[in-house]
Amino acid sequence: MAEQRKRFLSGVQPSGIIHLGNYFGAMREHIALQDEGEAFYFIANYHALTTLRNPQQLRQNTFDTAVAYLACGLQPDKACLFPQSDVPEVAELTWLLMTVTPMGLLQRAVSYKDKVERGLPTDAGLFNYPVLMAADILAYDSDVVPVGQDQVQHVEMTRDMATAFNQTFGEVFKLPTYRLGSAPYVPGVDGAKMSKSYGNTIGIFATGEPLRKIVMSIKTDSTPVEDAKDPLKDTVYQLYALVASPDERDALAARYRAGGMGYGEAKKLLYEKLEAYFADFRARRDEWARHPDRVEDVLRIGAERARGEAQRTLDRARRACGLT
Ligand code: ADP
Ligand code: TRP
Repeated sequence: MAEQRKRFLSGVQPSGIIHLGNYFGAMREHIALQDEGEAFYFIANYHALTTLRNPQQLRQNTFDTAVAYLACGLQPDKACLFPQSDVPEVAELTWLLMTVTPMGLLQRAVSYKDKVERGLPTDAGLFNYPVLMAADILAYDSDVVPVGQDQVQHVEMTRDMATAFNQTFGEVFKLPTYRLGSAPYVPGVDGAKMSKSYGNTIGIFATGEPLRKIVMSIKTDSTPVEDAKDPLKDTVYQLYALVASPDERDALAARYRAGGMGYGEAKKLLYEKLEAYFADFRARRDEWARHPDRVEDVLRIGAERARGEAQRTLDRARRACGLT
């Protein structure tokens, strides 16, 4: 019997520019998977509301994130791309899941604990963020959720919620697994995890002087030029390894280890590679951005298909718990 095609699902928040961490940690993998099975990718604008409260900006970012996916190589005839909020069924599903989710599970969520520990204001939206994410995943009967390391806990929580629901009301949800990409941890210019919330990002469409400046600002240690350096401990090398060929990467590693090369020179090489690596992406981005109506069409068609799937799942869940 032929093996059933796997269904992949993932989302990216439209909370700012798409950076190298998003691309190498998640989106590159998403795009590759469109050839391996059924792919569903959405722009998590409901989730973004937990941090972004500027309607104009949210709309713009949602559009820009869609364009970024297309520019990165998403093919609308292969993968289904849509804004999360075009499938309002996930909001209802979130409620159903909340009723079987222990408070303790949500209190252990790193994303929530982090904010509490940093003394930042929290709200019920942030607290329930993992439940909305579980609804996203379960609504489409997803098999595999390709994400970066920071999202693994959320997928594990999704399994807990699905199990709790299934045990209470019968087998309604399929249990998903996560899949890490080949670069689950991309460092930012300060050496910490690259993240919009840390302000240490390099945008995938950055070019020219702004790109050069940001690359030159990457934090390095104070090893003198003549000394040998450990490439694996250096952010410049780690980023270079993502955009260079294996031979170029090994050649640079050898130069680090030999000594006599300063970080400034490595930064120059990185800058040039980044310019070249993303040149086609920038061209595709410009082309899609010139045709916003085509982007809207992609999202509308994607949402119709996704919504049909979510409606079926929600219907099953409503029936199981006696809401019909
Ligand atoms: P950010 O941390 O900038 O807000 P998101 O949380 O929107 O990024 O992440 C979108 C996707 O990109 C997720 O799957 C996440 O795991 C991945 N990702 C984000 N930053 C990185 C990084 N520095 N390294 C690897 N993957 C990342
Ligand atoms: N929380 C994810 C992030 O910040 C985005 C997201 C929302 C997501 N729903 C999802 C990712 C469902 C995978 C599956 O990156």
